[in-house]
Amino acid sequence: MKSFLKKVIVRTSFIVMAAATLILPVRGFADSCLDCHLELEDEAALSFKVDVHNIDGVSCAGCHGGDPASDDQEIAMDSRNGFVGAPNPLEIPQFCGKCHSDPAYMRQYNPSLATDQVDKYWTSHHGKLNRSGDEKAAQCSSCHGVHEMRPPSDPRSMVYSKNVPQTCSECHADADYMAKYQISVSQFQDYQGSVHGVALLEKNDLGAPACNDCHGNHAAMPPGISSIGRVCFQCHLAEGELFSQSPHKVGFDELGVPECAFCHGHHAVHALTDENIGVEQPSICLQCHSEGEAGYEAASTMKNEIIKLKKKYEDAETLIADAARKGIEVSDEQFELRNVRQSLINLRKLIHAFNPDSVVTTTESAMEAANEVYLAGVQSTEEVKTRRTGFLIFSVITLILVAILYVIVRKKTSYH
Ligand code: HEC
Ligand code: HEC
Ligand code: HEC
Ligand code: HEC
Ligand code: HEC
Ligand code: HEC
Ligand code: HEC
Ligand code: HEC
Ligand code: HEC
Repeated sequence: MKSFLKKVIVRTSFIVMAAATLILPVRGFADSCLDCHLELEDEAALSFKVDVHNIDGVSCAGCHGGDPASDDQEIAMDSRNGFVGAPNPLEIPQFCGKCHSDPAYMRQYNPSLATDQVDKYWTSHHGKLNRSGDEKAAQCSSCHGVHEMRPPSDPRSMVYSKNVPQTCSECHADADYMAKYQISVSQFQDYQGSVHGVALLEKNDLGAPACNDCHGNHAAMPPGISSIGRVCFQCHLAEGELFSQSPHKVGFDELGVPECAFCHGHHAVHALTDENIGVEQPSICLQCHSEGEAGYEAASTMKNEIIKLKKKYEDAETLIADAARKGIEVSDEQFELRNVRQSLINLRKLIHAFNPDSVVTTTESAMEAANEVYLAGVQSTEEVKTRRTGFLIFSVITLILVAILYVIVRKKTSYH
């Protein structure tokens, strides 16, 4: 009897345990928030399927609190169960920071993810405005969206490099929205047509900067005048180093003008050309240097050197191309020509040292190479001429021989 009772107890507890393991997880995973809001066809729930939080197992209640185990709307969304509802824009940074500023919590999901976004945000112009009660300044959800957030590497994310300009321009290109501030709303338009905008948005060159590459992601601030050069240096290392050692480094600091941006602009960055250097319009140098100054003389020298090499390069190129078309073997010359072209490209970098002597020295050695190619080109042209004359003489002799033959044959036939 005792053993029978024992058996019953063991069996029932086994059945109960089995049932519990089957039922409990279902109940544990059931998310009344998602279920009910899906039923309501609420946009928040509909878009949440692809949200990085949903994919990583952060539920509605993870952000909004409440009791996801209760089907009862009142109980599920009761503040006594931790429900906080929808935060207003001024509350959102702390709302996200609950998790994103907690290294211990975030490490469980992704140890490599930074947890400094909120701290950095408070140092930004946006963050300071938000703290002062200005709801118009960008906060986390302005740039990331709300229920359809994706990691920055996802091409559909609002903060994917190619989408950033559009995301920022939602406010910054909207004159009505920005009306109460004293800043322009042309950044997006200027950027869109710039070398950088065209490279990123049209040529898909992810190495070209989007707004956040210059302004930072969370510490989104205008780089102050002293750091503007630094922004460009990140990518244009060679020009940056040359500039830092140039007389302009100190000269520009004293004038209080931005390093690269004075000549190139910052949003509407365009490639400058040989026309923009020297002592004739539209040279930029004329904006600060006038006749008699060392800078003026230097501008003139540098321009002349570049033009000299450019002209020699173009002449040599024409000759070599011509020879190649006429079937002369010029692959060595074509190779040398590429070196000259590279020197010309380097020269356009080297101008950023704003040192006429270094430009002269570099041009000298490049001119030597250019001259060699040029002379080889001339020789090939001579060769073509010699070949032509040879061919002409050959043709004439052949013609004469044919004529003589003809006469002989005619004479022979006329005897008969
Ligand atoms: C049985 C249905 C139901 C359940 C369960 C439910 N909700 Fe709701 N929820 C609603 C309805 C309906 C509204 C809109 C009406 C209202 O504001 O009361 C709403 C509104 C909200 C809002 C917007 C509130 C605001 O401040 O504007 C949030 C956020 C929200 N629910 C989150 C949750 C979360 C999180 C859970 C789970 C813990 C949850 N809901 C569970 C039906 C439900
Ligand atoms: C990553 C945090 C996060 C998660 C997860 C989240 N929400 Fe929200 N939710 C927010 C924020 C932030 C707002 C306020 C955004 C705003 O209005 O700009 C908000 C607003 C809302 C609102 C108010 C109306 C609206 O769309 O702005 C509803 C309703 C809502 N959430 C429901 C849900 C439901 C249902 C889920 C789960 C399917 C959910 N949320 C998951 C952060 C979250
Ligand atoms: C309940 C905790 C929690 C809250 C609140 C929260 N998040 Fe998250 N968030 C996470 C977790 C966990 C991940 C996943 C990390 C991972 O796997 O990379 C994540 C991922 C992200 C990612 C993608 C990061 C990446 O590179 O993978 C972004 C962007 C993000 N959250 C933004 C926000 C914003 C904006 C808010 C506020 C509206 C917010 N989160 C609120 C927990 C939270
Ligand atoms: C002005 C726009 C902007 C605001 C405001 C903003 N972010 Fe971001 N956030 C970005 C951009 C851009 C990236 C992408 C960086 C990249 O390309 O790697 C990013 C990346 C992230 C990531 C991925 C990890 C990382 O640090 O790169 C998280 C998490 C994140 N943001 C959370 C937040 C939180 C939380 C807030 C609010 C305190 C916030 N963001 C406010 C623009 C913004
Ligand atoms: C929700 C709207 C909104 C979004 C989105 C937004 N901003 Fe802003 N931003 C503002 C407002 C408002 C100001 C305040 C302007 C002022 O005070 O003059 C501001 C200020 C700035 C400033 C400082 C300008 C100054 O006054 O010196 C910079 C830089 C800036 N934003 C860059 C960005 C970048 C980069 C992005 C995208 C990654 C972005 N913003 C996205 C609204 C936004
Ligand atoms: C190549 C770097 C670079 C890129 C890309 C860039 N900016 Fe800027 N931005 C700057 C610099 C440098 C300044 C500071 C100009 C100054 O202080 O005189 C600035 C200033 C600003 C300002 C302050 C107001 C103004 O116009 O001077 C805002 C707002 C701004 N940028 C927004 C943006 C937005 C939005 C984008 C993307 C569409 C963007 N920036 C892309 C470098 C950049
Ligand atoms: C994130 C990297 C990055 C930053 C930061 C950056 N650039 Fe660029 N820049 C590029 C790339 C990539 C190109 C090549 C675009 C192309 O021609 O396809 C480029 C092209 C240029 C060109 C045209 C060069 C030519 O003749 O072809 C100029 C001029 C230029 N950048 C100036 C600047 C200035 C000035 C700044 C700072 C205000 C700056 N860049 C910041 C990456 C960057
Ligand atoms: C005093 C005006 C001036 C300043 C300052 C200046 N540049 Fe230039 N930059 C030019 C001119 C002029 C050219 C075109 C030269 C040519 O084609 O002959 C040029 C060409 C370029 C080019 C294309 C040629 C190359 O180098 O590959 C890049 C990139 C560039 N500059 C970047 C920068 C960066 C980065 C800075 C800041 C460190 C800077 N520039 C500062 C005038 C300037
Ligand atoms: C924003 C004003 C500004 C522009 C534009 C400018 N410079 Fe200068 N430059 C200066 C200042 C300031 C100095 C330092 C004081 C001085 O020597 O005149 C200087 C000095 C120089 C020097 C050194 C002169 C010496 O004393 O040995 C050279 C070389 C030079 N600049 C060349 C150029 C060239 C070439 C251009 C055009 C591509 C140019 N600068 C454009 C402001 C400018």
